[in-house]
Amino acid sequence: MTPIRIGVIGGSGLYDMDALENKHWTRVDTPWGAPSDDILTGTLAGVAMVFLPRHGRGHVHDPATVPYRANIDALKRLGVTDVISVSACGSFRDTMAPGDFVIVDQFIDRTVARDTSFFGTGCVAHVSLAHPACARLGAACHAAALDAGITVHDGGTYLAMEGPQFSTMAESKMYREQWGADVIGMTNMPEAKLAREAELCYASVAMVTDYDSWHPDHGAVEITDILRLMQSNADKARALLTRLPALLGAARAPCPHGCDRALDHALMTAPD
Ligand code: ADE
Repeated sequence: MTPIRIGVIGGSGLYDMDALENKHWTRVDTPWGAPSDDILTGTLAGVAMVFLPRHGRGHVHDPATVPYRANIDALKRLGVTDVISVSACGSFRDTMAPGDFVIVDQFIDRTVARDTSFFGTGCVAHVSLAHPACARLGAACHAAALDAGITVHDGGTYLAMEGPQFSTMAESKMYREQWGADVIGMTNMPEAKLAREAELCYASVAMVTDYDSWHPDHGAVEITDILRLMQSNADKARALLTRLPALLGAARAPCPHGCDRALDHALMTAPD
């Protein structure tokens, strides 16, 4: 067993974690530049936890300019073992209503203008991404959400779009009807890919704010829809997060799904 350190990446509406004890904002530098903001370190119920606002306090980074590599690298440098990504999303399903949470288990990456890997020239690696979210960590988030009285869906496919504009109605219908996506957002990629390359367990808690633009009974998504739901969703996220330490404990066994050993068979070298 090794000590656990939970890393929370907070999305729109979640810029701080008041519940943390022994709180301290720490600046972390990385070879990939500065993360979105300083990182809040502390403990919750005796479990080490850190918090990073993805957009920065004051919401200064849009989804394309979030320094995803620096964020994941900074969490790794702080000894984080398990990353909980919290973010707003639109829904492609009647059953996934605004205010509901979805524990994402698959992604479709439609982002086009972001640095998606720590590897490249000099060191080549191809990690497996067939199961991009950690099922063990996702199950803990699901249990925490249920315990907090949140309507939560266990599994869902998240389409990551580039933005910053929302989708056209034709795109929205295509993602839902042809591609089988359940929710849509702008931030979980390349975050999930980078977490896997950094050998971190990663779970995504997507908080539904709207029905995107496909729904005949709802108009096109507007930022006002998102803002309307943001505060109550953030309160629910806090309730979920405060329940996690008790569920995860202060120490953890190696990940049963191998997230923490993702590079074991991923590095590419020329034969001797
Ligand atoms: N974030 C919240 N709602 C969204 C939507 N409909 N599309 C993309 N990102 C979102």
